[in-house]
Amino acid sequence: MSQNDDISAETSVQRFNMAGFRAPRLDTVRVGVLGMGRGDNHIKALVQIEGVEIRAICDKDPLEIQKSRVWFQDTDHNPEIYTDSKDAWKGLCEQKDLDLIFICTPIPLHAEMSLYAMRQGKHVCCEVAAAWTVEDCWELVRTAEETRKHFMMLENYSYMDFHLVTINMAYRGFYGDIVHAEGAYNTSKLEKCFRKVQERGYSDMWWLREFASRRGILYPTHGLGPIATAMDINRGDRMEYLVYMEGRDFSYGPEAKKRAADDPFYEEFVGKPYRGNMGVALIRTVMGKTMMVQYDPHTPTPHNLIHGIYGTKGAALFDPDPPRFSKGDHRWYRKAGNGQEEYERLYDEYTPEILRRLKQVSKGHGHGGSDFRMNWHIIDCLRNGLPMPQDVYDAAAWSSIAPLTAWSAENRSASVDIPDFTRGAWKINARNMDINLENGGGNTKVLPPSKAGMAFDDELARQWDRDHGLKEGSV
Ligand SMILES: NC(=O)c1ccc[n+]([C@@H]2O[C@H](COP(=O)([O-])OP(=O)(O)OC[C@H]3O[C@@H](n4cnc5c(N)ncnc54)[C@H](O)[C@@H]3O)[C@@H](O)[C@H]2O)c1
Repeated sequence: MSQNDDISAETSVQRFNMAGFRAPRLDTVRVGVLGMGRGDNHIKALVQIEGVEIRAICDKDPLEIQKSRVWFQDTDHNPEIYTDSKDAWKGLCEQKDLDLIFICTPIPLHAEMSLYAMRQGKHVCCEVAAAWTVEDCWELVRTAEETRKHFMMLENYSYMDFHLVTINMAYRGFYGDIVHAEGAYNTSKLEKCFRKVQERGYSDMWWLREFASRRGILYPTHGLGPIATAMDINRGDRMEYLVYMEGRDFSYGPEAKKRAADDPFYEEFVGKPYRGNMGVALIRTVMGKTMMVQYDPHTPTPHNLIHGIYGTKGAALFDPDPPRFSKGDHRWYRKAGNGQEEYERLYDEYTPEILRRLKQVSKGHGHGGSDFRMNWHIIDCLRNGLPMPQDVYDAAAWSSIAPLTAWSAENRSASVDIPDFTRGAWKINARNMDINLENGGGNTKVLPPSKAGMAFDDELARQWDRDHGLKEGSV
């Protein structure tokens, strides 16, 4: 296969530049939520944000809808329900009185649902990753430009507290020229992937099926999104090409075999070509910078996001613990231990306005509060007619790393071009993740939490606390 013909080529010109796009202001944002797994985390945040009306929810599984109803018990939200069929989501997308649809279903469904929702005149916020193929990434770009509807991928890791501080450091020139950055999603999914749905596993064993049939970095955006934002990718620079290598499978195949010996349910998962357990991609940008993205959802190593940014004048590194900064003076200032006082001073100096305002109220929300900060920012932008913090070009470029790394793996780690989804506009596009609230907005109030929200047993939040217990809640 010639990758230039089949993977990254797009000859059409940009129809309309969605970078910096401002949609008409919405006093009230009328929301529909599709998929009640991850969707629950978003509802928990959305019911605490002024100007949100959740008017529709959908899950093909009525049991999931029943569980999710609890969210609305002590609120004014009274959503329409769409359920009991794998096509019920179309009804939600067609509902006239909706402005914005959150798509929180398994990844293979994202592109079809997002495209349909935009064509029904809705803005879309879609969970990570936005699409599984490069062609679908292009289709998302083309459709957002044609319909002039926002498409934002919900990259919440850019709203982690340390990550926000390090993005602000980039905006304020702390690193000098950024030379290299690295990010990862290294957290074991083995146990959860093998759980059946009734044991709180993934619906239809969808992740296990993807691991059994794909190569490459299947979850690139949590590691890549925050560093791409710090490096102004798609606004002044862009990712040009990558190389990728992954080893073999050491864990999923043996686990399937072990389980199938006791339980015939697992027989269909035996003997599959599971993806390699550790994957590493190196990306070079047009401006001559490098990025490393790592993916290990297999070994039982504690959650490790790396999130390192290295420049001519300074550096920052999140994982492994403790987080740290360097001022170009050949030493680290650590959150715990050596240099703690200077770490705290730097953290405070570079804390962006959004984190200053929302740090306390976002406690108790998923992923160290990042879910709440991101959703508040989205709603605030829509209510004030501001550009979305991440645009369709970010979604396409970051998501394309999954199929492109698969192509590289299948071709002895050969280099592969990364498409320019902006079609040249990266040279003029301005920053749009306004974490200091300098371009307007910032006037959306935070409401008291719902009782159900606070009582919710959030497995992801528990996992986050377990793996990052030392990091959250201080400074
Ligand atoms: N950003 C994050 O931190 C984060 C965390 C977890 C999951 N995610 C993302 O969220 C998405 C969902 O993952 P999950 O862990 O919640 O999976 P899940 O399997 O737990 O939940 C998916 C839900 O979608 C429903 N669904 C499946 N097909 C459907 C259809 N045709 N119509 C309506 N509903 C349908 C299922 O019944 C299920 O309730 C994925 O894209 C995943 O990558 C993101």
